Formats: sequence, structure tokens, C-alpha cells
Amino acid sequence: MISDKDGIRFATPEPVAEYRAKRLQCRVIADISCGIGGQAIYFAQKCDFVYAIEIDPKKIEYARKNAKIIGVDNIEFIPGDSLSPDVIAKLPNLDVVFSDPARPPAEKERSIENLSPSIPEVMKAYAYKSSNFAFEAPPQLSPEKIPFDCEKEYMSLEGKLNRLNLYFGDLKKTDISAVVLPGDAIIRKKNTTINIERTAKPGLYAYEPEECITKAGLLEQLTAYFKNDAPNTNIFEIDEKRVLISSDKALECKLFKNSYKVAKVMEFDIEMVNSYLKQNSFGKVIIRASIEPERYWNIRNTLEKELSGERKAHLFVKENNAIICEVLDY
Ligand SMILES: C[S@@+](CC[C@H](N)C(=O)[O-])C[C@H]1O[C@@H](n2cnc3c(N)ncnc32)[C@H](O)[C@@H]1O
Repeated sequence: MISDKDGIRFATPEPVAEYRAKRLQCRVIADISCGIGGQAIYFAQKCDFVYAIEIDPKKIEYARKNAKIIGVDNIEFIPGDSLSPDVIAKLPNLDVVFSDPARPPAEKERSIENLSPSIPEVMKAYAYKSSNFAFEAPPQLSPEKIPFDCEKEYMSLEGKLNRLNLYFGDLKKTDISAVVLPGDAIIRKKNTTINIERTAKPGLYAYEPEECITKAGLLEQLTAYFKNDAPNTNIFEIDEKRVLISSDKALECKLFKNSYKVAKVMEFDIEMVNSYLKQNSFGKVIIRASIEPERYWNIRNTLEKELSGERKAHLFVKENNAIICEVLDY
């Protein structure tokens, strides 16, 4: 792919582009804010024909060249404002309209209103061309901040929350979903109320859900999924930022970012924790707690003082308890 700095910064990562092209596969699609073509080129590999519109003349030239480099010839590039009636008039009826809109480069808090082109304006302007729309929106926005009747699909990529996709019309399969890439592991919200108890102490195992699960509010549903086989599976809330699924069984799931065996729960006294780690052949400690950056190394050095073992501890701290975990290798 060729681009200027700005174009590449906002281009769609390959696994995301590939996933969306599979999900939106159809006969004729329009990508109405195509940038340098990061997504449009993947649509061209799955759809019969793609219309790619872009307001920035430099970017659409890059997109054209990128399509040539990749070797796809089923895209018509249309320079211009995708909200302009003249541009829209050039398009046939469309199976799907897609937009990954521009966001203000600096914004204190992401908002659904500041996207360009704006979602309501696109849906109004294209209403006579299609009823199926898909948009990318800022993933920082929780479901209640999205004021539309659509599917909100939160996406994690390589262990981090990466995208939020909104699907309208026939593309909507549920209210909320979460997907983990690579691997396409998906969970879709069911219309039943699920109540899962919070446990004060973890069981033998603890699992860290992918961020897209918590952002989508699907932690209860994911936990409930294991209840049949492992009734003692609960939610273990650690602090405002951290939550684990606790169980007395070893569970395997692609929607977990990390799986741990709980080695020890003890009072969080740094000297005592260090002494436990020393006696149990630990050599390293990864602190998984909110600690002011200026105190981090001081605490970590004290925890690791005179450790010489091979084991690596992941240390969570809930109130005054240290939860010492080790990554589970399946
Ligand atoms: C986030 S980028 C798209 C990146 C693209 N999906 C990719 O993978 O390369 C958003 C693009 O929307 C374009 N844009 C903003 N408003 C537009 C409008 N009204 N019409 C067409 N393009 C627009 C911007 O110039 C920018 O290139």
C-alpha cells in the first residue's frame, strides 16, 4: 500500500478489512469515505463491484494506485463529497453502503456526532439507494452512547479494543456483539436477562476477557455460557479497570485474552508477597494493578528482590489482597 502519513494512520488494519469484507459480502457495495482504499480493496475481493468515494483528491489517487498494486479492477473511484447529490446520482442501487468516517484529530471525548460524513446524513442521503448500512464508529463509545437502532459490534484486535462497527437494515443480527480478531470468535447478545454473582475471592482459575466483551457489556453472558459444565464460574471484579472470570475448572475460550491458574491469594504486604515468591521459585512479577507510574519500579523491585526462579507471576491487587496468578499453557 502506498500513502501519505495521514492516510496510512487511518487505514483499516488487514484482519479488520478482511473480516468486514466477509461480513458485508454482497453484489454491489459503496465505500463512501474510502481514504487510501484499505477497506475498499478487501471489499473488491469479496463483492462483484465496489464504488469508492473520497473527498480528498490525494487520498483517492493513492487508493486508485493501491488497487492497481493489489491487482483488483472491479472498483470505480469517484472523487468528491459523498453527501453531494451529484455524486450519489452516479451510483446504481446498492446492496450495502459502508462508511469509515473521519474523526476530529483531537477530541477530549469521542462522540458519535462529530463523524464526517455524519451517520444520519448518510442514511438520509442514500435512503433511495439502499436500506443496508454499515459504519465504523469510535470504539470508546459504550452501547448506550449510540442513539441508533443498529447492531453495535465491538472488535478486539491482537488483545486490544480496536473497532466498533454499526450495522443497519438486514445487516443487523442482534443489538450488541463482540468479535475477537484474528480468529473471528464472536458472541452475540441474547434477549434474556442474566444475573451472575460477583465472587469476593477467585477460584482455582481466572480468565481475563477480551476488552471488546466488557465494552459490549457481554461479560455476564460469556460467564453464563460456562455455568452448565462449571457451575462455580463467577465474575471477580478487581477494580474499576479490571475484571476476571473466576472458575474452579480449566476453561478454554477464544474470547479470553489471558487464562491463569491462581497460585495464591494472600494479604498484600510487599515483604510477605516477596517471601512467598522466593519460596516458590518465582523470578519475575508483572503487576496488574493501578499503581502511580513513579512508584511502579520501586514496588516491582521490592517484589522481585532476590528472586531467582523460573516462574512468572501476574499480580492482581483487590483491596488488601494479592492475587498471584500464572499464565495457563494449554
Ligand atoms: C478514516 S478515513 C477512511 C480510511 C479507509 N477506510 C481506509 O481503510 O483507508 C476517513 C476518510 O473519509 C474522508 N471523508 C470525510 N468526509 C467525507 C465526505 N463527505 N465524502 C467523502 N469522503 C469523506 C476523509 O477524507 C478520510 O480519507
